Amino acid sequence: MSNLEIPVGLKELLQGYTVEVLRRKPPNLAEFAVQHFTLVLESQRKEQQSKKPSTNPEQKGVPFETDSNKPNKDDEEEEEKDSVSDILRSVAVCAEAYNPDDDKDDAEPQVVHPKTDQQRQRLQDACKDILLFKTLEKEQFSEILDAMFEVFVKPQEHIIDQGDDGDNFYVIEKGVYDIFVQKGGVSVCVGQYNNKGSFGELALMYNTPRAATIIATQEGALWALDRATFHRLIVKNNAKKRRVYEAFIECVPLLKSLELAERMKIVDVLGVRVFRDGECIITQGDRADCFYIVESGEVKIMIKTKTKTGQQNNTEVEVARCSRSQYFGELALVTNKPRAASVYAVGETKCLVMDIQAFERLLGPCMDIMKRNISQYEDQLVALFGHSDDLKH
Ligand code: CMP
Ligand code: CMP
Repeated sequence: MSNLEIPVGLKELLQGYTVEVLRRKPPNLAEFAVQHFTLVLESQRKEQQSKKPSTNPEQKGVPFETDSNKPNKDDEEEEEKDSVSDILRSVAVCAEAYNPDDDKDDAEPQVVHPKTDQQRQRLQDACKDILLFKTLEKEQFSEILDAMFEVFVKPQEHIIDQGDDGDNFYVIEKGVYDIFVQKGGVSVCVGQYNNKGSFGELALMYNTPRAATIIATQEGALWALDRATFHRLIVKNNAKKRRVYEAFIECVPLLKSLELAERMKIVDVLGVRVFRDGECIITQGDRADCFYIVESGEVKIMIKTKTKTGQQNNTEVEVARCSRSQYFGELALVTNKPRAASVYAVGETKCLVMDIQAFERLLGPCMDIMKRNISQYEDQLVALFGHSDDLKH
């Protein structure tokens, strides 16, 4: 072995490929190799074109950040230790406690996984409604897109196991994923992601073990974001979000009964969406996936009811309005039924939005208040139409 001359850069090149295979689990290794090394080559060419002198030519263009800070080991004995388990260790989770105001991770190198135009387009589509990304500045969002990498999954594959350390945050491009939580020693399916949404943020935000097991029910594709980048951009942004929304969340009547820490957890997972005057926020009859709190502006609730003979009326009638600190969109989540009304913005309206998984996890203590209000909706409908659909069941 000691007579063999190993070409400069070979180790890093193969290491980069191996790590990408382990992380992204492509279905076809050869096809993935072509894709991976094409991107490496493109990235090397771009770097040469920009005539940027590289301080470490062996590592340039390898689209993987791990080991880039390690000293270059010429020592043969050291080389032999570079087994897959070493590589895996190098991508393993760093379990130290995170302080969002500690700026040390600003100095961490930016992670970039080069992507084809087609990949980037698919990634952008998958990320466009991800609530955690909604309050980021454009630049931060773009850094996140740069850092994300594709992961292909097979039926029955465990993406996350409850109790494990957190490594990545995942955005769903396609596939259906069951959510299991251990309750009294039994694993209970508490929900499902259906071709959209994201998961895996809790362990990274709070430095806790994974709170649920996520299993793919069919072949799927995910985009993963590494823990370090998640910390640097999302957790830091959450500290800012807490400062901005702490006072507002305190005066939302629905959330009054919650502890401060519980309210802050709500802020952490909230997204912000702005709607134009007249824009439809919820469509009656649609499947529900979000809950809303009005931050500014107003919304009107419109209903197409059934006639006394049970036929659908096509004209919409306004039944209520919600303004600052009031909520809507809870009914379908509580009853597991389609949306009971349509909701439109009146003037430009800003809403805080929470996905169904966070709603179920965090708003349990507010359920009684919400259920009481559902009875009021029924009274409202009776007053307006002389009858009401059974909203609760
Ligand atoms: P994390 O704890 O990092 O890993 C498991 C993920 O499952 C968790 O983050 C959430 O994103 C997601 N999840 C969905 N529903 C639940 C739930 N009811 N309890 C805990 N985690 C859940
Ligand atoms: P959801 O059914 O999820 O979506 C439409 C929302 O309109 C509904 O939840 C309630 O939050 C809100 N709403 C307000 N008043 C009424 C009403 N009288 N009947 C039904 N929904 C109402």
